[in-house]
Amino acid sequence: MLEVQKVSKLQGTIKVAGDKSISHRAIMLSSISQGVSTIKGFLQGDDCNNTIACFRRLGVEIENKNDEIIVHGRGLHGLQKSDRTLDVGNSGTTIRLICGILAGQKFTTEITGDGSIRKRPMDRIIIPLREMGAKIEGKNGTTLAPLKIEPSDLNGIDYSLPVPSAQVKSAILLGGLYAIGNTIVRESIPSRNHTELMLQSFGANLSDKQGQITLAPSQLEAQDILVPGDISSAAFLMAAAAGIPGSHLIIRQVGLNPTRTGIIDVLRAMGGKIEMDNIINSGGEIIGDIIVEGKQLHGTNIGGDIIPRLIDEIPVLAVLAGVAEGTTRITGAQELKVKESNRITSMVTELNKIGISATELPDGMEIEGPNVIIGGEVESYGDHRIAMAMAIAGLFSEEPIRIRESECIAISFPDFMETLSSVAK
Ligand code: S3P
Repeated sequence: MLEVQKVSKLQGTIKVAGDKSISHRAIMLSSISQGVSTIKGFLQGDDCNNTIACFRRLGVEIENKNDEIIVHGRGLHGLQKSDRTLDVGNSGTTIRLICGILAGQKFTTEITGDGSIRKRPMDRIIIPLREMGAKIEGKNGTTLAPLKIEPSDLNGIDYSLPVPSAQVKSAILLGGLYAIGNTIVRESIPSRNHTELMLQSFGANLSDKQGQITLAPSQLEAQDILVPGDISSAAFLMAAAAGIPGSHLIIRQVGLNPTRTGIIDVLRAMGGKIEMDNIINSGGEIIGDIIVEGKQLHGTNIGGDIIPRLIDEIPVLAVLAGVAEGTTRITGAQELKVKESNRITSMVTELNKIGISATELPDGMEIEGPNVIIGGEVESYGDHRIAMAMAIAGLFSEEPIRIRESECIAISFPDFMETLSSVAK
């Protein structure tokens, strides 16, 4: 059980683990490209290691040298049948994205994951992939994992996303690599565009114009990829530093793709002082340092088009709202119910246990602050972002917070506690 206690401030300079979304895509695209790709800054977390394991089972040689991953790409049509069921563990990104690739193969694949994955909705990828001609079935006639994907010929589709989801968009685009004709995905609210940017840098014929993404059949060429720090991991430390007066924290080389920076906008709206510096562009991704100064924050409203730009940061924002002055209302975030846990229920339940006044809304939550966090024992629901959000609550708490099943933190940020301890004063 992890125990976290009050600090007086966060101070220093750190780096955070590599971006999870970009790490998954780097393995996937380099596996199906021609030539040898090198990936630096890869997230050595459980989810991304499961993506490596899946592609190794599909015959791809992947050398994991810790600070560098070398992928010997097999081209679009060079994957081989796996002799056993692929296992994605807890990773929704792996199962949803890889199905786009598997739908275009000349062999059958079965794929599954842990208890959380077997409950998460897969109809959102099954429906469009079937429209493309894919043969994909869920367990016992349902649309839940384990999934079975059989060979078929794919055709391009023109698909409007019913929910803003980068995983769904990406599954369709990856399927589109194997399709006859163009594949078009339309999104009314932008979701993270790492797949589009990386496809372009691998040489795919892809255009992205005002919410209409068009992919023409393309071959991919191996690339060297620099994975930035994950803004969704940095978010835990940024939020803590922003809310503890006297803090001064620099987080180096974080991904600042505008489809991911909603957290910065919200921290500023709460009165936080956040700056960016040393901005570079690598493979279309913006990377830079984040500098945070601690202040007493106030509540805000979070809803509308910003939600996909901060969906994974809502658990830690809810903690911060608990120590901010006034009301914070989070709406339009019903997608939180189908994440690694139901993050609305998980957060509201655990926040109330530690003394934060929070109520569930049908599509979000309302938090009334400021509260004195009293501490105690909390559940993580095996959900990495709930575990880390509760750890951040511990930094503000009168008595320590103890977090059950905290091992799940290794899914996205294995060095979370070491990184946090290195700047805790
Ligand atoms: C991800 C997309 C988001 C996000 C998840 C990672 C991705 O999910 O919550 O952690 O890498 O594409 P949705 O596509 O379901 O919104």
